[in-house]
Amino acid sequence: MNRTEPLVLGIESSCDETGVGIVRGNTLLANAVSSSMEEHVRFGGVIPEIASRAHLDAFVPTLRQALEEAGVTLDEVDAIAVTSGPGLAGALMVGVCAAKALALATGKPLYAINHLVAHVGVGVLDGGELPENLGALLVSGGHTEILRVRTLTSDVELLGSTIDDAAGEAYDKVARILGLGYPGGPAIDKLAREGNPKAIRFPRGLTQPKYMGSAEVPGPHRYDWSFSGLKTAVARCVEQYEAAGQEPPVADIAASFQEAVVDVITAKAVLACTEHGITNLLLGGGVAANSRLRELTAERCAAAGISLRVPPIRLCTDNGAMVAALGAQVVMAGGEPSGVAFTPDPSQPVTSIHLPAA
Ligand code: KG4
Ligand code: ZN
Repeated sequence: MNRTEPLVLGIESSCDETGVGIVRGNTLLANAVSSSMEEHVRFGGVIPEIASRAHLDAFVPTLRQALEEAGVTLDEVDAIAVTSGPGLAGALMVGVCAAKALALATGKPLYAINHLVAHVGVGVLDGGELPENLGALLVSGGHTEILRVRTLTSDVELLGSTIDDAAGEAYDKVARILGLGYPGGPAIDKLAREGNPKAIRFPRGLTQPKYMGSAEVPGPHRYDWSFSGLKTAVARCVEQYEAAGQEPPVADIAASFQEAVVDVITAKAVLACTEHGITNLLLGGGVAANSRLRELTAERCAAAGISLRVPPIRLCTDNGAMVAALGAQVVMAGGEPSGVAFTPDPSQPVTSIHLPAA
């Protein structure tokens, strides 16, 4: 196998995006994505069974599109990489089975890749090798995590995460309360521009001293987030206006909600970085599209002396190129293939960057 600049095909199916990406070393050749988001709209959130069926329909066309875009054949590929977790069990299963079938049919080595770490690995496609003292802030409909990345292919640590809803999920739920439709993130982001972010002081979850503790004696949730109380506070606020026979000020509520989310995400992420000597931060996940999150992260990172990297948004949302990128890094680092006996792991921890052969 070519381990200096391997041609790697990456497959992603952990949520509602079917992604097939192709890279050569650190160079992006193709990034084909098919999303089933439209099919979830009327339910106001991703329905796992619908997502799984959509992956099944989308896989072969998306694979063909990626190969065409890259101008390569399956035969030329050095290795196949696939997301094995974390994610929705049924959705992961479709991508993993497709990847195993391809690996068996072509005789190519297969690598089972961690989705979260792949969100970090994608950084190499935009600006090359990742810097030292690296942290990653991942914010999407499925995750809200702050990671410390010592070595991308072998040493990643979870510093903090949400203990309930992911940030994007909170956006989607609040958008539903405000009657804005799904997905809620872009709608709230837009409406918030017309509102006053200081109109209502919504709660910042897990910021009380009993959760934070101090730098010397950290509390149990110093770097963790919680968004379920915030969502409830928005619902109560809307109810109060309605009970009084008044129209809720939706733009002010959207702006104030967004400010609460973005404030607590950035404050805790920057705190985790400064207390762990992290001087470079990569922002990833679908919510990285949020204008206020980008703005406040940049502002607070600059103030803390942290240099910030935000890949282009099509690489931040779920895609196959990120899986291919991390797969290629593992191949280049001499990592062994995972074989075809592994099973997807819906709660694969970040410490498990690629699965060993079963
Ligand atoms: O990464 P992604 O495409 O899929 C996963 O959830 O893994 O992220 C989708 C999430 C949705 O919850 C959507 O509401 C949110 O990202 N989102 C945004 C924005 N654009 C997308 N949230 C806030 N502001 C945005 N501009
Ligand atoms: Zn993701």
